[in-house]
Amino acid sequence: MLVIAHRGASAEAPENTVAAFKRALDTHADAIEIDIMQVEDEIYVFHDRYLRRLAAQPGRFIDLSKAQVAALRIFSQHPVPTLKETIALIRGRCLLNIELKSDVDLELLAEHLRDAESEHAFNTETLLVSSFNHHWLQTLKQLLPELRIGALTAGCPLGLARFAEDLQAWSVHIDIGFVTQAFVSDAHSRGLQVFVYTVDEPEDIQFMRDIGVDGIFTNHPQHTRNVLLGHTN
Ligand code: G3P
Ligand code: MG
Repeated sequence: MLVIAHRGASAEAPENTVAAFKRALDTHADAIEIDIMQVEDEIYVFHDRYLRRLAAQPGRFIDLSKAQVAALRIFSQHPVPTLKETIALIRGRCLLNIELKSDVDLELLAEHLRDAESEHAFNTETLLVSSFNHHWLQTLKQLLPELRIGALTAGCPLGLARFAEDLQAWSVHIDIGFVTQAFVSDAHSRGLQVFVYTVDEPEDIQFMRDIGVDGIFTNHPQHTRNVLLGHTN
């Protein structure tokens, strides 16, 4: 079962920052998940629609200018990384799951992904783009037919994982509250990987393993790995 560092190792360093990515790499996470949003012609790694929680100010992230994003500090300390620097930092050392949070220019994103492969040691197997917006994923897949895409769902659809197969996704990413053995079996019968978010507690980690989940998003990759290895509970 893959250990996917959710927003980096976000229990140990501020989410979606270089510190969180370095910590995830240090703890040998199998993958790092990041959230992206666009401002002007730059793609940034940032989760929230609003600035209040992460940067203690009013307003929306997407309404900032690039200069304002450059001045922003997460929890008063950490700059907001660009997607470009994040790709260069991770350098294909683990799987990178890029989650589309805002209406990003998909041509621009496709350029970043091509550069990740040609200049930063990524390949088809180490890049995965996911979103709750399946229209964006469909368009991106048309631009980059070889790209692996992950269909996110916050619930358990009537047709179980059929929507992800229809999308020609590689994986389906489902909320911890709604994943069942039936969902996992259905996804596997369609050739899909199943990743579950967000799993931090030992009981949940064991349950995911028992029902055959392929990967879990966790805020605490080191602890999750220890639980999987039976080193703690
Ligand atoms: O990609 C899995 C998970 O990150 C989706 O929810 O809100 O944490 O981005 P959220
Ligand atoms: Mg996310």
